[in-house]
Amino acid sequence: MAKPRSRYVCRACGHEALAWAGQCGGCGEWNTLEEVAAPAGSGGSGGSSRRRRAAAPPRAIPLRDVVSPREERLSTGIGELDRVLGGGLVPGSLVLLGGSPGIGKSTITAMALGNMVSAGRQVLYVTGEESTAQVRMRAERLGSGALEVPALAETDLATVVAAIEAERPDACVVDSVQTMHSGELSSAPGSVAQVREAAGGLMEVAKRNGTALILVGHVTKEGAVAGPRVLEHLVDCVLLFEGERERSYRTLRALKNRFGATSELGVFEMRSGGLVEVEDPSARFVGEATAAAGSVVLCAMEGTRPLLVEVQALVAPTEVVPPRRVANGIDRNRLAMILAVLARHGGVGVGGSDVFVNVAGGVRVDEPGAALAIALAVASAQRGEPLTDAEGRPLACFGEVGLTGELRYVAHAERRVAEALKFGLGPVQGPRIREAPAGLEMSATLRKALASARRRGGTALREAA
Ligand SMILES: Nc1ncnc2c1ncn2[C@@H]1O[C@H](COP(=O)(O)OP(=O)(O)OP(=O)(O)O)[C@@H](O)[C@H]1O
Ligand SMILES: [Mg+2]
Repeated sequence: MAKPRSRYVCRACGHEALAWAGQCGGCGEWNTLEEVAAPAGSGGSGGSSRRRRAAAPPRAIPLRDVVSPREERLSTGIGELDRVLGGGLVPGSLVLLGGSPGIGKSTITAMALGNMVSAGRQVLYVTGEESTAQVRMRAERLGSGALEVPALAETDLATVVAAIEAERPDACVVDSVQTMHSGELSSAPGSVAQVREAAGGLMEVAKRNGTALILVGHVTKEGAVAGPRVLEHLVDCVLLFEGERERSYRTLRALKNRFGATSELGVFEMRSGGLVEVEDPSARFVGEATAAAGSVVLCAMEGTRPLLVEVQALVAPTEVVPPRRVANGIDRNRLAMILAVLARHGGVGVGGSDVFVNVAGGVRVDEPGAALAIALAVASAQRGEPLTDAEGRPLACFGEVGLTGELRYVAHAERRVAEALKFGLGPVQGPRIREAPAGLEMSATLRKALASARRRGGTALREAA
């Protein structure tokens, strides 16, 4: 039998809420919510609907009349994190931050709390994985603000809830949600039931106190946040921290955000002093781009921001059957599709070779507009011809490749071209666009784009001479 749960009913309008709040969500009156214990045995849905029929039916309110609290955002002091969140943390909201081990989840949350303490906010850092001494060691490398953060090493859910209730922090980090356990359940910490219970309990106390709560979560091998899917439904925002551990670049993106766009990308670099925001990642990635065969620059869009990244390909004779197809930073299926189109419509066959494609810097680009860059990089690697221009600048491009070998339109062409021109690259290879921006060299098909890129590389001219 489900355990009886308290409900809160507004004296003024009868609005019913599961959690106490200072202001009634129904009529906007203050201090009108009163706790009513649900009668024992009313946990089942049948019981509650019977009770509803007997009592006055609940009243639905036009949304215009619902009083919404003014939404003020808490800045984390980390610009890239604020941007991915949609402008900072929303009080009372729940953020799930996922990432593979050692990627820097504890580092970024400790830095954010440190910044908030320095800005005069109340914060709390709950660590279930490390001792407070370990947390302090990390804080020492992150600077003075991080050392001021009150930390609690605790895994018992009830104790953590009580601590949040007592401290009423503006922001609280629970690192990690998988280590929390409730004594009321017999299952082990990290199990579906425990994670659900922990997230539910923490959400309730956070909403009641207006605390912005960040739950750190582990990520499974497949890249999903470990634990039940319900966790992702429950929280307001799911952030994923990605990157390769051996490389210093880290990217942060929102998979879900109830308060902002999900396409924003934050780029960081891990240094000894913590995570440093990379405000102009295009400059970094273009600066590091090689001008060798198999390298092109992709004009990608990450949310509202254009981003130039280097796409590298290597085509080498294979020793295994079937040959290897290795994709880092792009989707494997996309690579397979592009190789097929290249062979059928581009005259570039790589059937007997291993193909490796890599997006430099450990960034993931999951957009159709990356296809042309992958195709040109593979073609350039296969022929051993660099696609640089006379001054040695790498080729910049974007565009979707269709199955019939046509180049397709992708959004934000002007911004992609403008970003490339800003860094001295161009003309940019791309698909046909009705109102073409200056600096865009348009091709209708992949074959034409390949020919145009080779002309630029001087190969076609050399062959003609
Ligand atoms: N002195 C240092 N200089 C540079 N980088 C460091 C230094 N110390 C730690 N790091 C980096 O910080 C990473 C660990 O960060 P952090 O503990 O925040 O990760 P995490 O995501 O919380 O890991 P876990 O899943 O184990 O909790 C290391 O993998 C390493 O890349
Ligand atoms: Mg950690």
